[in-house]
Amino acid sequence: MSTNNFTICVLPGDGIGPEVIGSARTVLESLASKAGGPALTFKEYKAGADEFERTGDSFAPSVLEAGKAADAVLVGAFDVARLPAEATQPLHALRHEFDVHASVRPARSYPGLDSSYGPIDVVVVREVTEGIYSGIEYSAGPDAACSVRVITRQASARTADIAFRQASQRRRKVTAVHKLGALKLTDSLFLEAVGDIAKNYPDVEFETRNVDACALELIRHPGEFDVVLATNTFGDILSDVAAGVAGGLGLAPSSCIGARWAYFEPVHGTAPDIAGKGIANPLAAILSTALMLRYLGEASAADTIDRAVEAVIANGPRTGDLGGKATTADITAAVIDAIAPA
Ligand code: IPM
Ligand code: MG
Repeated sequence: MSTNNFTICVLPGDGIGPEVIGSARTVLESLASKAGGPALTFKEYKAGADEFERTGDSFAPSVLEAGKAADAVLVGAFDVARLPAEATQPLHALRHEFDVHASVRPARSYPGLDSSYGPIDVVVVREVTEGIYSGIEYSAGPDAACSVRVITRQASARTADIAFRQASQRRRKVTAVHKLGALKLTDSLFLEAVGDIAKNYPDVEFETRNVDACALELIRHPGEFDVVLATNTFGDILSDVAAGVAGGLGLAPSSCIGARWAYFEPVHGTAPDIAGKGIANPLAAILSTALMLRYLGEASAADTIDRAVEAVIANGPRTGDLGGKATTADITAAVIDAIAPA
């Protein structure tokens, strides 16, 4: 039984962010209202592209402070494409200021959900602060532009350690992804740092694969993979591939856990095409709250959410991305029903 009261900083963001986070929050509130449920206090703040257009500030310093003061941060989605270059990119700020190096992105098949691919149960561990997304870009005359790919031993090693720890608790295999033929200096350093960490985990099988071959194999033979460890951009792409094999981005949660702070978010973006229509799939956001509860030490509450989501996926209703016609509110209600004892 829980004795802690956790403060959750909620950043719904843009597009479908407020809809899926609203749903996830309703599920958490329902869980919290039950005897023995976790005690949660929500503090919600605006950040993102809408907020930038409204106030000129996409991620106010006070919001960052609120995030650091909270026990965990729950994020919806930010429309980073709409933000001008001079605006703070909220995810970038969170990742750097929270000193988190890796995003942990589980993708698994669910009973009852047909997929054109074989069964998958992988965790993509993606470095999130450097690589080609370091934000170091410059124009080289009117017809050329450059981007700098930064790889450091420290960030690679920290991310690798998270991957190997995940693998030790799972099927004990890490696949590190690279493109050594084209990225000789940066990816040799990455693989060297990863290889050093691998020595600390003699019980975990360690292999390396080229990113293109890895994408293909994830689709053709998903069962070969346990933990996929990747630099920033490769991990961004492969976590979508893994989610697609599992059943789509509507079911893909993530956690970014550092030594002091952590945030949790669905892997999907703002989905502007369906934003505001009340039809977004909230399950990725709801599954992200299960990762958050586990991080907070509320394992049985996390299990309850995971089981409720499994039941809803198996028995319906389903949103459009999974071939159904249900609304966000229908899914929220179905998850809450599945949580409630009969
Ligand atoms: C993700 C997203 C973000 C990223 C975008 C929105 C910047 O694609 O978390 O996978 O790649 O960092
Ligand atoms: Mg992505």
